[in-house]
Amino acid sequence: MVASAFTVAFEGIEARLVEVQCAVAPGLPAFSVVGLPDKAVSEARDRVRAALETMSIALPPNRIVINLAPADLPKEGSHFDLPIALAILAALDVVPRDTVAETVALGELSLDGRLTAVVGALPAAMAAAECDRTLLCPAPCGAEAAWVGATTVIAPPTLAAAIQHLTGQSPLNPAEPGEVTDGPALRDLSDMKGQERAKRALEIAAAGRHHLMMVGTPGSGKSMLAQRLSGILPPLTPAEALETSMIHSLAGLISDGGISRTRPFMEPHHTASMPAIVGGGKGAKPGQISLAHNGVLFMDEFPEFAGIMEQTHHM
Ligand SMILES: Nc1ncnc2c1ncn2[C@@H]1O[C@H](COP(=O)(O)OP(=O)(O)OP(=O)(O)O)[C@@H](O)[C@H]1O
Ligand SMILES: [Mg+2]
Repeated sequence: MVASAFTVAFEGIEARLVEVQCAVAPGLPAFSVVGLPDKAVSEARDRVRAALETMSIALPPNRIVINLAPADLPKEGSHFDLPIALAILAALDVVPRDTVAETVALGELSLDGRLTAVVGALPAAMAAAECDRTLLCPAPCGAEAAWVGATTVIAPPTLAAAIQHLTGQSPLNPAEPGEVTDGPALRDLSDMKGQERAKRALEIAAAGRHHLMMVGTPGSGKSMLAQRLSGILPPLTPAEALETSMIHSLAGLISDGGISRTRPFMEPHHTASMPAIVGGGKGAKPGQISLAHNGVLFMDEFPEFAGIMEQTHHM
């Protein structure tokens, strides 16, 4: 009795397809997850067990093994709860196996069976579109994932709703893309007095996408000018908005599923750590530089960036 569900593992902003295999075999009752799971993935066992119990589905007193393939790819995050639950339900013939195998699922389960939001719904939807599968994600992520457009996104609020959709008992309508949020109106150069040459330099930098270094006496308006750069840049094109949103999706920065057409403006403080600026660390989260993609990275008081200066010194 082996059944499979599909989900993704994130490598940078790439979402790689992961097969979640479930085998229910005779033996002493056990429930194990193998295939390089991190702590959050291993803990999925308890959340899945509790969520199934709320629907009066008890795990059979058998040996249940979940294998996350490819086994050499590290699996991180809490979004494996839903595909693990679906693989088990398919193995127990609660939901049809072929229907489950046609979806890419991600979502965290709460103990009462609700599906809670996870990061990365947008890159996951891209991966689902690439392999011609439907995306199944928590209701709060539906509007964000639907932006991809190339695949159907089903966003059930609970595990029970997901099951009823997959069995065809009460099919859900595909999620609609969220609104384009324009954010607060950005400031432009209208309140900047004088400084004609500096303003012209800023406009040239904006028009040609050039880098800009400003040197000048304190209080002459350098920081003020820099903060107005994203205000004079054109709005993101749809392709750029999707690209930037993929990065912001992984950082969990997309609110209400809306995609912003405003160019990002990132302003890391000079005391920020290297991983905060360049990204990385455990779980490889995007840093301020990545988050500024297609927008503005403003490093105020640049010589104070100790980490950066040290790195360039060694190069
Ligand atoms: N050209 C200007 N037009 C309007 N306001 C200005 C202008 N230059 C400076 N100001 C005012 O002075 C304040 C200080 O300017 P700002 O912080 O941009 O200077 P700075 O060049 O970054 O200084 P520092 O080198 O100390 O960081 C601004 O917030 C703004 O209120
Ligand atoms: Mg300044």
